[in-house]
Amino acid sequence: MAIIIDGRTIAQSLRRRVAEEVAELQARTGVRPGLAAVLVGDDPASHSYVRTKERMAREAGIAGRVVTLPADVAAEELHARVRELAEDPGVHGMLVQLPLPRHLDVESVLAAIPPQKDVDGFHPLNVGRLWSVRDPLAQDVLVPCTPQGCLMLLEEVLGPGGLRGRRALVVGRSNIVGKPMAALLLARDATVTLAHSRTRALAERCREAEVLVAAVGRAEFIRGDWIRPGAVVIDVGINRVEEAGRSRLVGDVAFREAAERAAAITPVPGGVGPMTVACLLANTVKAARIQLGLPPAG
Ligand code: GUN
Repeated sequence: MAIIIDGRTIAQSLRRRVAEEVAELQARTGVRPGLAAVLVGDDPASHSYVRTKERMAREAGIAGRVVTLPADVAAEELHARVRELAEDPGVHGMLVQLPLPRHLDVESVLAAIPPQKDVDGFHPLNVGRLWSVRDPLAQDVLVPCTPQGCLMLLEEVLGPGGLRGRRALVVGRSNIVGKPMAALLLARDATVTLAHSRTRALAERCREAEVLVAAVGRAEFIRGDWIRPGAVVIDVGINRVEEAGRSRLVGDVAFREAAERAAAITPVPGGVGPMTVACLLANTVKAARIQLGLPPAG
Protein backbone atom coordinates (compact mmCIF):
# COMPACT_ATOMS: atom_id res chain seq x y z
CA MET A 1 0.00 0.00 0.00
CA ALA A 2 1.30 3.40 -1.03
CA ILE A 3 2.24 6.32 1.20
CA ILE A 4 -0.58 8.87 0.95
CA ILE A 5 1.01 12.28 0.33
CA ASP A 6 -0.64 14.73 2.70
CA GLY A 7 -0.93 17.93 0.66
CA ARG A 8 -2.98 19.67 3.36
CA THR A 9 -0.24 19.43 5.96
CA ILE A 10 2.57 20.29 3.53
CA ALA A 11 0.57 23.29 2.23
CA GLN A 12 -0.15 24.43 5.76
CA SER A 13 3.53 24.49 6.63
CA LEU A 14 4.29 26.41 3.42
CA ARG A 15 1.57 28.96 4.28
CA ARG A 16 3.07 29.34 7.75
CA ARG A 17 6.49 30.01 6.18
CA VAL A 18 4.95 32.57 3.83
CA ALA A 19 3.24 34.32 6.76
CA GLU A 20 6.65 34.59 8.49
CA GLU A 21 8.21 36.04 5.33
CA VAL A 22 5.35 38.54 5.02
CA ALA A 23 5.85 39.69 8.62
CA GLU A 24 9.62 39.94 8.15
CA LEU A 25 9.27 41.88 4.89
CA GLN A 26 6.82 44.28 6.46
CA ALA A 27 9.05 44.82 9.51
CA ARG A 28 12.10 45.44 7.31
CA THR A 29 10.59 47.58 4.55
CA GLY A 30 7.18 48.77 5.78
CA VAL A 31 5.62 47.14 2.71
CA ARG A 32 2.70 44.75 3.09
CA PRO A 33 2.44 42.48 0.04
CA GLY A 34 -0.86 42.82 -1.85
CA LEU A 35 -2.63 40.30 -4.08
CA ALA A 36 -5.49 41.14 -6.46
CA ALA A 37 -7.67 38.67 -8.37
CA VAL A 38 -9.92 39.56 -11.29
CA LEU A 39 -12.99 37.36 -11.53
CA VAL A 40 -15.21 37.55 -14.63
CA GLY A 41 -18.66 35.93 -14.74
CA ASP A 42 -20.56 33.52 -12.50
CA ASP A 43 -18.74 30.19 -12.72
CA PRO A 44 -19.31 28.69 -9.24
CA ALA A 45 -15.98 26.83 -9.17
CA SER A 46 -14.05 30.01 -10.09
CA HIS A 47 -15.90 31.98 -7.39
CA SER A 48 -15.06 29.35 -4.83
CA TYR A 49 -11.35 29.22 -5.85
CA VAL A 50 -11.03 33.01 -5.73
CA ARG A 51 -12.72 33.24 -2.31
CA THR A 52 -10.26 30.67 -0.98
CA LYS A 53 -7.32 32.61 -2.45
CA GLU A 54 -8.52 35.84 -0.83
CA ARG A 55 -9.10 34.23 2.57
CA MET A 56 -5.75 32.41 2.63
CA ALA A 57 -3.97 35.60 1.53
CA ARG A 58 -5.48 37.46 4.45
CA GLU A 59 -4.56 34.68 6.86
CA ALA A 60 -0.94 34.97 5.71
CA GLY A 61 -0.93 38.75 6.27
CA ILE A 62 -1.20 39.60 2.55
CA ALA A 63 -3.69 42.31 1.55
CA GLY A 64 -6.20 40.43 -0.65
CA ARG A 65 -8.54 42.09 -3.10
CA VAL A 66 -11.05 40.75 -5.65
CA VAL A 67 -12.31 42.71 -8.66
CA THR A 68 -15.57 41.12 -9.86
CA LEU A 69 -16.84 41.80 -13.37
CA PRO A 70 -20.01 40.59 -15.15
CA ALA A 71 -19.85 37.74 -17.69
CA ASP A 72 -20.67 40.14 -20.54
CA VAL A 73 -17.98 42.70 -19.65
CA ALA A 74 -16.45 44.43 -22.68
CA ALA A 75 -12.81 43.62 -23.46
CA GLU A 76 -11.93 47.33 -23.10
CA GLU A 77 -13.41 47.43 -19.59
CA LEU A 78 -11.52 44.29 -18.52
CA HIS A 79 -8.27 45.71 -19.92
CA ALA A 80 -8.89 49.00 -18.10
CA ARG A 81 -9.32 47.18 -14.78
CA VAL A 82 -6.20 45.08 -15.39
CA ARG A 83 -4.29 48.30 -16.17
CA GLU A 84 -5.47 49.90 -12.89
CA LEU A 85 -4.13 46.97 -10.88
CA ALA A 86 -0.94 46.91 -12.97
CA GLU A 87 -0.30 50.54 -12.01
CA ASP A 88 -1.34 50.23 -8.34
CA PRO A 89 1.83 50.17 -6.17
CA GLY A 90 -0.10 48.37 -3.37
CA VAL A 91 -0.72 45.40 -5.66
CA HIS A 92 2.39 43.20 -5.89
CA GLY A 93 0.70 40.13 -7.32
CA MET A 94 -2.27 39.96 -9.67
CA LEU A 95 -4.13 37.27 -11.58
CA VAL A 96 -7.11 36.88 -13.84
CA GLN A 97 -9.07 33.77 -12.91
CA LEU A 98 -9.52 31.37 -15.86
CA PRO A 99 -11.47 30.31 -17.81
CA LEU A 100 -12.72 33.63 -19.23
CA PRO A 101 -16.02 33.94 -21.11
CA ARG A 102 -15.55 33.05 -24.77
CA HIS A 103 -15.82 36.57 -26.18
CA LEU A 104 -12.62 37.60 -24.33
CA ASP A 105 -9.13 36.92 -25.70
CA VAL A 106 -7.15 35.16 -22.96
CA GLU A 107 -3.73 35.76 -24.52
CA SER A 108 -4.08 39.53 -24.75
CA VAL A 109 -5.40 39.72 -21.16
CA LEU A 110 -2.51 37.66 -19.78
CA ALA A 111 0.02 39.71 -21.77
CA ALA A 112 -1.38 42.90 -20.17
CA ILE A 113 -0.32 41.75 -16.68
CA PRO A 114 3.16 43.12 -15.82
CA PRO A 115 5.53 40.09 -15.72
CA GLN A 116 6.84 41.09 -12.27
CA LYS A 117 3.25 40.99 -10.87
CA ASP A 118 2.23 37.85 -12.76
CA VAL A 119 1.80 35.47 -9.80
CA ASP A 120 0.19 32.81 -12.03
CA GLY A 121 3.30 32.75 -14.23
CA PHE A 122 1.17 32.85 -17.40
CA HIS A 123 2.73 35.96 -19.03
CA PRO A 124 4.76 35.01 -22.14
CA LEU A 125 7.94 36.42 -20.59
CA ASN A 126 7.62 34.20 -17.51
CA VAL A 127 6.71 31.21 -19.72
CA GLY A 128 9.83 31.76 -21.82
CA ARG A 129 12.09 32.22 -18.82
CA LEU A 130 10.62 29.11 -17.14
CA TRP A 131 11.93 27.09 -20.09
CA SER A 132 15.26 28.86 -20.43
CA VAL A 133 16.81 29.65 -17.03
CA ARG A 134 18.69 26.96 -15.11
CA ASP A 135 16.65 27.05 -11.88
CA PRO A 136 13.41 29.02 -12.30
CA LEU A 137 12.26 28.51 -8.70
CA ALA A 138 15.45 29.99 -7.28
CA GLN A 139 15.61 32.83 -9.82
CA ASP A 140 13.39 35.84 -10.44
CA VAL A 141 10.87 33.96 -12.58
CA LEU A 142 7.24 33.65 -11.45
CA VAL A 143 6.35 29.98 -11.93
CA PRO A 144 2.77 28.61 -12.29
CA CYS A 145 1.35 27.58 -8.92
CA THR A 146 -0.07 24.10 -9.50
CA PRO A 147 3.05 22.56 -11.08
CA GLN A 148 5.19 24.32 -8.46
CA GLY A 149 3.07 22.61 -5.79
CA CYS A 150 3.39 19.25 -7.54
CA LEU A 151 7.18 19.62 -7.62
CA MET A 152 7.25 20.37 -3.89
CA LEU A 153 5.23 17.22 -3.18
CA LEU A 154 7.57 15.15 -5.37
CA GLU A 155 10.64 16.53 -3.60
CA GLU A 156 9.00 15.88 -0.25
CA VAL A 157 8.78 12.17 -1.18
CA LEU A 158 11.97 11.75 -3.23
CA GLY A 159 14.18 14.23 -1.37
CA PRO A 160 16.27 17.03 -2.90
CA GLY A 161 17.86 15.79 -6.13
CA GLY A 162 15.53 12.79 -6.09
CA LEU A 163 14.15 13.50 -9.56
CA ARG A 164 17.56 13.45 -11.22
CA GLY A 165 17.60 11.00 -14.13
CA ARG A 166 14.13 9.59 -13.36
CA ARG A 167 11.62 8.78 -16.06
CA ALA A 168 8.75 11.24 -15.56
CA LEU A 169 5.50 11.21 -17.53
CA VAL A 170 3.13 14.17 -17.52
CA VAL A 171 -0.32 13.37 -18.89
CA GLY A 172 -2.01 16.59 -20.04
CA ARG A 173 -0.57 19.48 -22.04
CA SER A 174 -2.40 22.54 -20.70
CA ASN A 175 -0.64 25.88 -20.32
CA ILE A 176 -1.70 25.94 -16.65
CA VAL A 177 -0.35 22.54 -15.59
CA GLY A 178 1.05 20.09 -18.17
CA LYS A 179 3.51 22.26 -20.06
CA PRO A 180 4.97 24.14 -17.05
CA MET A 181 5.13 20.82 -15.13
CA ALA A 182 7.29 19.35 -17.90
CA ALA A 183 9.57 22.41 -17.74
CA LEU A 184 10.02 22.13 -13.96
CA LEU A 185 10.74 18.38 -14.08
CA LEU A 186 13.30 19.02 -16.81
CA ALA A 187 14.91 21.74 -14.68
CA ARG A 188 15.26 19.08 -11.95
CA ASP A 189 17.04 16.74 -14.42
CA ALA A 190 14.20 14.26 -14.87
CA THR A 191 13.79 12.58 -18.26
CA VAL A 192 10.44 13.96 -19.28
CA THR A 193 7.69 12.73 -21.59
CA LEU A 194 4.69 15.00 -22.15
CA ALA A 195 1.67 12.88 -23.12
CA HIS A 196 -1.90 13.89 -23.94
CA SER A 197 -5.24 12.68 -25.23
CA ARG A 198 -3.77 11.78 -28.65
CA THR A 199 -0.81 9.81 -27.27
CA ARG A 200 -0.79 6.24 -28.58
CA ALA A 201 -0.44 3.32 -26.14
CA LEU A 202 -0.82 5.65 -23.14
CA ALA A 203 -1.13 2.75 -20.69
CA GLU A 204 2.30 1.47 -21.76
CA ARG A 205 3.85 4.92 -21.49
CA CYS A 206 2.42 5.17 -17.96
CA ARG A 207 3.86 1.77 -17.00
CA GLU A 208 7.34 3.06 -17.87
CA ALA A 209 7.02 6.11 -15.61
CA GLU A 210 8.80 6.27 -12.25
CA VAL A 211 7.04 9.59 -11.69
CA LEU A 212 3.54 10.12 -13.07
CA VAL A 213 1.73 13.47 -13.04
CA ALA A 214 -1.90 13.21 -14.16
CA ALA A 215 -3.54 16.43 -15.37
CA VAL A 216 -6.05 15.37 -18.00
CA GLY A 217 -9.29 16.46 -16.36
CA ARG A 218 -11.08 13.12 -16.79
CA ALA A 219 -12.43 11.23 -13.79
CA GLU A 220 -10.38 8.13 -12.90
CA PHE A 221 -9.01 7.96 -16.46
CA ILE A 222 -5.69 6.42 -15.41
CA ARG A 223 -6.27 2.90 -14.12
CA GLY A 224 -4.40 1.04 -11.40
CA ASP A 225 -2.78 -1.46 -13.78
CA TRP A 226 -1.22 1.45 -15.75
CA ILE A 227 0.90 2.33 -12.70
CA ARG A 228 4.49 1.08 -12.56
CA PRO A 229 5.03 -0.70 -9.23
CA GLY A 230 6.92 1.69 -6.94
CA ALA A 231 6.02 4.83 -8.92
CA VAL A 232 5.26 8.20 -7.33
CA VAL A 233 1.87 9.42 -8.55
CA ILE A 234 0.69 13.04 -8.44
CA ASP A 235 -2.98 13.50 -9.30
CA VAL A 236 -3.90 17.05 -10.34
CA GLY A 237 -7.47 16.21 -11.39
CA ILE A 238 -10.50 17.51 -9.51
CA ASN A 239 -13.59 15.93 -11.09
CA ARG A 240 -17.07 15.92 -9.61
CA VAL A 241 -18.92 12.63 -10.14
CA GLU A 242 -22.48 11.65 -9.20
CA GLU A 243 -22.78 8.20 -7.70
CA ALA A 244 -25.89 6.68 -6.14
CA GLY A 245 -27.43 10.14 -5.88
CA ARG A 246 -24.33 11.50 -4.12
CA SER A 247 -21.75 13.88 -5.46
CA ARG A 248 -18.05 13.40 -4.71
CA LEU A 249 -14.68 14.56 -5.95
CA VAL A 250 -12.30 12.18 -7.70
CA GLY A 251 -8.97 12.65 -9.41
CA ASP A 252 -7.71 11.67 -12.87
CA VAL A 253 -6.30 8.46 -11.35
CA ALA A 254 -8.34 5.51 -10.05
CA PHE A 255 -7.01 6.07 -6.53
CA ARG A 256 -7.70 2.76 -4.78
CA GLU A 257 -6.33 0.61 -7.58
CA ALA A 258 -3.31 2.87 -8.09
CA ALA A 259 -2.47 2.97 -4.36
CA GLU A 260 -1.93 -0.81 -4.46
CA ARG A 261 0.99 -0.42 -6.88
CA ALA A 262 2.43 3.05 -6.29
CA ALA A 263 5.08 3.83 -3.67
CA ALA A 264 3.36 7.15 -2.95
CA ILE A 265 0.26 8.90 -4.27
CA THR A 266 -1.67 12.13 -3.69
CA PRO A 267 -5.33 11.87 -2.64
CA VAL A 268 -8.18 13.93 -4.13
CA PRO A 269 -9.16 16.08 -2.34
CA GLY A 270 -6.29 16.93 0.01
CA GLY A 271 -3.33 16.42 -2.33
CA VAL A 272 -2.36 18.96 -4.98
CA GLY A 273 -5.31 21.36 -4.45
CA PRO A 274 -4.12 22.97 -1.18
CA MET A 275 -0.60 23.34 -2.62
CA THR A 276 -1.82 25.56 -5.47
CA VAL A 277 -3.08 28.29 -3.14
CA ALA A 278 -0.05 28.05 -0.86
CA CYS A 279 2.26 28.49 -3.89
CA LEU A 280 0.19 31.49 -5.02
CA LEU A 281 0.90 33.15 -1.67
CA ALA A 282 4.59 32.26 -1.95
CA ASN A 283 4.62 33.78 -5.46
CA THR A 284 3.04 36.97 -4.11
CA VAL A 285 5.89 37.40 -1.63
CA LYS A 286 8.40 36.56 -4.36
CA ALA A 287 6.77 39.19 -6.62
CA ALA A 288 6.92 41.81 -3.84
CA ARG A 289 10.60 41.02 -3.26
CA ILE A 290 11.37 41.31 -6.97
CA GLN A 291 9.62 44.70 -7.07
CA LEU A 292 11.55 45.86 -3.99
CA GLY A 293 14.85 44.78 -5.53
CA LEU A 294 15.40 42.05 -2.91
CA PRO A 295 16.71 38.55 -3.75
CA PRO A 296 13.94 35.97 -4.40
CA ALA A 297 14.73 33.59 -1.51
CA GLY A 298 13.51 34.63 1.97
N1 GUN B 1 -8.11 28.25 -13.41
C1 GUN B 1 -7.72 27.01 -13.06
N2 GUN B 1 -6.50 27.04 -12.48
C2 GUN B 1 -6.12 28.34 -12.48
C3 GUN B 1 -4.95 29.01 -12.00
O1 GUN B 1 -4.00 28.41 -11.48
N3 GUN B 1 -4.95 30.36 -12.17
C4 GUN B 1 -5.97 31.02 -12.75
N4 GUN B 1 -5.86 32.35 -12.89
N5 GUN B 1 -7.06 30.43 -13.20
C5 GUN B 1 -7.12 29.09 -13.06
